[in-house]
Parts: sequence; C-alpha cells; structure tokens
Amino acid sequence: MTNINKSSERLIATVVSNKRVGQYHQILLNVGQMVNGCKPGNFVAIKVGGDNAKMILRRAFAISRVSHSGPYGGSMELIVAPFGQGSKWLCAQIEGATIDLIAPLGTAFGIPTEPVRALLVGGGYGSAPLFGLAEVLKNRGCRVDMYLGASTGGKIYAPMEGKRSVNVLKIYTEDGSMGERGRVTEPIPGLIADGLVDVIYSCGPMPMLRAISHIVAGSDVVHQCAVEESMACGVGICMTCVLPVADSEGNVSMKRSCIDGPVMDGSQVMWDLVGKIPEAHA
Ligand SMILES: Cc1cc2nc3c(=O)[nH]c(=O)nc-3n(C[C@H](O)[C@H](O)[C@H](O)COP(=O)(O)OP(=O)(O)OC[C@H]3O[C@@H](n4cnc5c(N)ncnc54)[C@H](O)[C@@H]3O)c2cc1C
Ligand code: FES
Repeated sequence: MTNINKSSERLIATVVSNKRVGQYHQILLNVGQMVNGCKPGNFVAIKVGGDNAKMILRRAFAISRVSHSGPYGGSMELIVAPFGQGSKWLCAQIEGATIDLIAPLGTAFGIPTEPVRALLVGGGYGSAPLFGLAEVLKNRGCRVDMYLGASTGGKIYAPMEGKRSVNVLKIYTEDGSMGERGRVTEPIPGLIADGLVDVIYSCGPMPMLRAISHIVAGSDVVHQCAVEESMACGVGICMTCVLPVADSEGNVSMKRSCIDGPVMDGSQVMWDLVGKIPEAHA
C-alpha cells in the first residue's frame, strides 16, 4: 500500500514576496531545509483562511520551484490563481505573513537516467512545476521543449527566467491573443509522427491530460502527467481524490491521486472512467 511522501512535514512558513504575474500570484515562501525533500511534481497542502476560518480543508498547490540558497535560505515558489475563497485568501497574504503548510506531498516526475527528448506541456497555471522540471532535465543533458496553452494570453504563465531552461518555448491560446491560435495539444501528433519526442511531461486541466494520453496511445512515447483531481485531506485519508488506474496486467483499481499521484503514467489512467463509479468485480 502506498504511503504519504516520507519527506513531508508540517511547517509555519513566512511569505517572502507575493507578486502579480498576469492573472496569477507568484508567492515565495521561506521553508528552510524543507526544500531538500521537494522534487518537481510534488505539491503542498495549505491551511487557508487563518486560525478562525471555517475553511477546514487544506488547498493543494503544485510546488513551482525551490531554491536551496538565497538571501532567505531555502524557499519555495507557488503560482496561484485567485479563484475561490481559499486561493483568494492565499493571494492576499503579504510579505511577512505566516502560512501553515504540509509539504512535500505526492509523487514526483520520473527523471530519465539517459538524455531524452522531452516535451513539457502545460495548461494555465499547470506550467508552474514544469519550469523547475525543465531545469532538472536540462542538467541531465535532455533536450527540453515546452508548449504552453490556455484559453487566453492572461492565463499563460511563462516567466522570463524560466525560458532559459528550455530549448524551444511555444505558446498556444484558443482566442489567439498570445502565441499561435489553437490548442496546445494540436502539434503533438506531428511531433510524435516525426519521431521528435521520447517523453511527454504534462500538467494542467484533466481534459488536456486525457487528450495527450489518447494522442500518445499506440506510440512508444511515455506520458507522465500530474493529475489535478479535487482533494480534501491531501494526505491519503479521505479517498476524495481517487482515480481509476490500471496495473500492468490491466486490473483497474481506484488510486488516491494525493499519494499515488499527482504524477501518474498517463497510459494507466482509465480516462473514460474518471468520475464514474466502477463496477464491482465478481
Ligand atoms: C495536485 C493539485 C495541484 C494544484 N496546483 C495548483 C496551483 O499550482 N495553482 C493553483 O492556483 N491551483 C492549484 N490547484 C487547485 C487548488 O487546490 C484549488 O482547488 C483552487 O485554488 C481553488 O480553491 P479555492 O479555495 O480558491 O476555491 P473553492 O471553490 O473554495 O475550493 C476549491 C476546492 O476545495 C474543495 N472544497 C472547498 N470547500 C469545500 C467543502 N465545504 N466541502 C468539500 N470540499 C470543499 C473542493 O474540492 C473545491 O473544488 C491544485 C490542485 C491540486 C489537486
Ligand atoms: S485527498 Fe484525501 S485521500 Fe487524497
């Protein structure tokens, strides 16, 4: 049985900075030695609303990047979209505020031992953990191309400094307001047909992850995706976050995306059954 990430711990972290970047907030937290256990793909569960809040459920956020040394010691960056009550509270926290968090949680992206041609695909704030991943892959000698997509340009997160870690960065928006018009998944079949990709790493909305899994099906391309299933506890207790996943023999079972994920093998997620109650096995 899978267990909670062994490196995880609870910490009261201090907000170092909180900057607006497009429609997102780039929040830097001082987390000290915790950065040593954080890997690209891991997430953090944050208590939102302060001590007296009625919001009892922690909110999950992908760890965008960590820095081991800097003026503040170990720090962790989050990219947060102000959406509902919890994320808006987090986006309102100013420098010096304290945040109650548990991290690092969940699985991390698998890093190849040999240099490969990697395509990183991000949807909306899903690009956040991909820049840290790109740095790790580059240091392993991989070719790293990154394709980012969103409905409109304001929802693209692509910081200037992140562009240094990739060979090619392409942007796709559905309304054509930034980069090329269209969906970020559209060029992928051509790249696969031309033999230009070995591994796809993806993070973003579930329909995008599902579409990529369907595109790579039948090819030799490996697809590692960071799923974003609604979570309540974030630590493996409540079963809110379960997804149907097949093992190597094709047996399907419900896996908790907070501890068996968020990074999963896209070919093993039973996308057509996500959100449905599985039939009982005889
Ligand atoms: C692995 C993972 C990584 C993520 N990474 C990011 C990221 O990098 N950036 C980002 O902006 N967002 C991220 N999210 C989404 C984030 O966790 C929140 O869902 C989002 O910020 C909206 O939360 P909210 O509190 O603003 O909205 P709300 O609508 O208040 O709550 C959002 C979710 O919390 C749960 N919830 C809230 N209240 C209740 C209740 N009373 N009972 C039951 N459930 C409730 C529900 O699942 C709901 O969908 C991630 C989610 C996951 C699972
Ligand atoms: S969120 Fe509770 S088990 Fe995954």
